[in-house]
Amino acid sequence: MGIANVGIVGAGTMGTGIATNLGRHGFAVKIFDNRPGAVEAAIASARGFYARQVEKGRMEPAEAEAAGARIAAVDGLDGMVGCDLVIEAVFEDFDLKAGLFETLSRLLPESTRIATNTSCLRVTDLQRHVSNPGRFLGLHYFSPAQVNPVVEVVRGEATEDAVIEEALAFCRATGKLPIRCRDSFGFAINRFFCPYTNEAVRALDEGLGTAAEIDAVAKEAVGAAAGPFFVMNIIKPRINLHAIRNLAPLGPFYAPAAGMIVHGEADRPFEIGEAGEIPEQRRREITERLWLGVFLPVLQALDEEVAEPADFDTGAREALKFTRPPCALMDELGRAEVARILDPALSRYGIAAPASLARVGNISR
Ligand SMILES: NC(=O)c1ccc[n+]([C@@H]2O[C@H](COP(=O)([O-])OP(=O)(O)OC[C@H]3O[C@@H](n4cnc5c(N)ncnc54)[C@H](O)[C@@H]3O)[C@@H](O)[C@H]2O)c1
Repeated sequence: MGIANVGIVGAGTMGTGIATNLGRHGFAVKIFDNRPGAVEAAIASARGFYARQVEKGRMEPAEAEAAGARIAAVDGLDGMVGCDLVIEAVFEDFDLKAGLFETLSRLLPESTRIATNTSCLRVTDLQRHVSNPGRFLGLHYFSPAQVNPVVEVVRGEATEDAVIEEALAFCRATGKLPIRCRDSFGFAINRFFCPYTNEAVRALDEGLGTAAEIDAVAKEAVGAAAGPFFVMNIIKPRINLHAIRNLAPLGPFYAPAAGMIVHGEADRPFEIGEAGEIPEQRRREITERLWLGVFLPVLQALDEEVAEPADFDTGAREALKFTRPPCALMDELGRAEVARILDPALSRYGIAAPASLARVGNISR
């Protein structure tokens, strides 16, 4: 079955971004939200986005007009009948999403694909609320979905192979780089992005450096365009804390740093300020802390076969704009060096060395 008509439920930040991406790539979109004015705002936002693309010379005026005309408002979930795929992007609330899938299961033919854009809930748990669960999967877009090229394609326990293959092709047809991953906490990218930000806060809590110094060092350490504190302030500390708490079942290394809890619970941005000259020793310690935050989760996730090495690197490069993505960077540093960087955390948190450490040197090849 091909996908040409796509329904979107939830016209907030993500639903609007996904609709904008789909309209531009020739897909007919039906969008629904139960908040008055939300769908109209989403359509206006998509048209505004296309108009800016025309101004920048990236779209022809006729193309922008056609893209805008592809996105239609519907005023109820029954308006999704006739779609090949329905993507859910409502609030991150299990009962809300589960109830929605039960309603969609009653309304839609059993062949209609259904996807969730959840960041933190288990795809497998949501799947239990869908009739014919083999057609259900996670499509985890990154914000802003209008332009961020990465989508994690998440297989729930019951998702059929053909549905995953079709979703990968669908993502590519929408100009995205799909990352195939298991239904594991944080999927592929938040699995290391969250601990990376968490180690940044632990480094701050322990006085290894100021937020400005840690941000400056991160730019070199992982080749990030912006450091972790700057990025956390954009994401919002409350959202970041929620994403980190979602990783708690993975063990104490993933528990939120004290400063993360303080800022997250108050949703108070980190004060960054200016970094002066950073002494070499301090630079080194901060670098190793940030590397630990990335390397340990990626190696553990490789042990668990959450995703392929190339996919972790694609996600880091494309979704996070790290020019030094984890697997390539570990290969560059070599096994002994990576083991040395991991060592203090393995003792501190009582963790066994990941088996994938043995692959360092050849992971990304
Ligand atoms: N914002 C991000 O960076 C981001 C990134 C990836 C995934 N996500 C996930 O995407 C989902 C949506 O997040 P968001 O940031 O777009 O949220 P949002 O608050 O901007 O939008 C959610 C929308 O869902 C609508 N809604 C709620 N209940 C509804 C219902 N019963 N029927 C129809 N519409 C309903 C709301 O009115 C709202 O417009 C969440 O699961 C979130 O975890 C968010």
